[in-house]
Amino acid sequence: MKLLVTGGCGFIGSEYVRRRVTRNPGDLIVNLDALTYAGNLENVASVASAPNYIFVHGDIADANVVNRLFEEYRFDAVVNFAAESHVDRSIENPQVFLRTNILGTQTLLHAALNHGTSRFVQVSTDEVYGSLGPEGAFTEETPLSPRSPYSASKAAADHLVMAYHHTYGLPVCITRCSNNYGPYQFPEKMLPLMTINALKDAPLPVYGDGMQRREWLHVSDHCAAIDLVLEGGRPGEVYNVGGVNERPNLEVIRALLKQLGKPETLIRHVKDRPGHDRRYALDASKIRKELGWEPAISFDDGLRATVQWYVDNRDWWEKIVSGEYRTYYERMYGNR
Ligand code: NAD
Ligand code: DAU
Repeated sequence: MKLLVTGGCGFIGSEYVRRRVTRNPGDLIVNLDALTYAGNLENVASVASAPNYIFVHGDIADANVVNRLFEEYRFDAVVNFAAESHVDRSIENPQVFLRTNILGTQTLLHAALNHGTSRFVQVSTDEVYGSLGPEGAFTEETPLSPRSPYSASKAAADHLVMAYHHTYGLPVCITRCSNNYGPYQFPEKMLPLMTINALKDAPLPVYGDGMQRREWLHVSDHCAAIDLVLEGGRPGEVYNVGGVNERPNLEVIRALLKQLGKPETLIRHVKDRPGHDRRYALDASKIRKELGWEPAISFDDGLRATVQWYVDNRDWWEKIVSGEYRTYYERMYGNR
């Protein structure tokens, strides 16, 4: 299979690239990534010289770049991870979210259509469903009700993906996953941010009362689900991925402080995120029944291993925190 993976230098995309390149030596995996602040070539260093892997530096919203790539490789399939992914940044500066998440996705869809690509997997999020009360869970039929510029841009992309299926017959699938955690997550996201602050004995900024609830899924379980959807998902279908390990933020933060032997006095309640979604929970029975997906990693084991990864890989996050990781890219690719 000739597979285009976009955003493969980010947190989840790089896990997927490492997995796919290693497990599928007969495939060609082309990783198209713009290397924004969130893209890091170190995340894919372990597979960079593999014969079945090619990295291309480019923007999914640039039709010239995308069309040239499709012409050169005639991809069998696309998995689109590339996105602006951080809710707080979308509140500060929504514009770039619209360009990458909406226009970028449509650019890829159009190229896939023009080149007869036989599978397009859009990596979406549970945030497109909005915020839940204390009971119940989102199913694939729950109407979309996004509440942040980030989730609105992802919902718009999901609508375009379905429009390309219904209007032009493009064989698409959408995955909607809950909060991921694991190694190589950019330290703006809650789990690495809190772990790193705790390691530095710096305050842990908890938004509002810290009782917002998220469902935590290890990134490798998410990528296993994406592989199942790529290989066996029905065209035109959405698959929720999650449905396990729901926790209030404070409980997760207290667990990581305990593991690190740091005091809870580091916790600081700060001003809440505007429009903060209170709770997400997914009903993932469809992917379990249809594709046999089961998460392999319990939250307790996964959290322990992940916190330990940040302890053991100080060099990785210190370069990011200091901004040093950018200088290499800027020399190689210019200042994006
Ligand atoms: P990330 O921010 O860590 O990585 C995003 C990657 O996309 C980076 O490598 C970046 O350089 C690249 N990128 C950004 N704009 C681009 C552009 N215009 N062209 C090409 N590449 C570009 O994100 P992540 O957390 O790994 O999320 C990956 C995908 O999964 C996103 O689509 C996100 O919406 C979705 N998702 C994330 C989570 C989560 O918990 N992190 C959960 C569900 C779904
Ligand atoms: O649910 C899937 C989504 O999960 C993905 O689509 C997004 O790309 C991903 O960023 C994530 O969104 P969240 O907003 O849930 O993740 P974040 O790590 O930013 O925040 C998790 C929770 O922690 C949320 O309730 C906000 C809170 N938080 C976050 C930060 C960064 C804090 O209390 N303090 C913080 O400093």
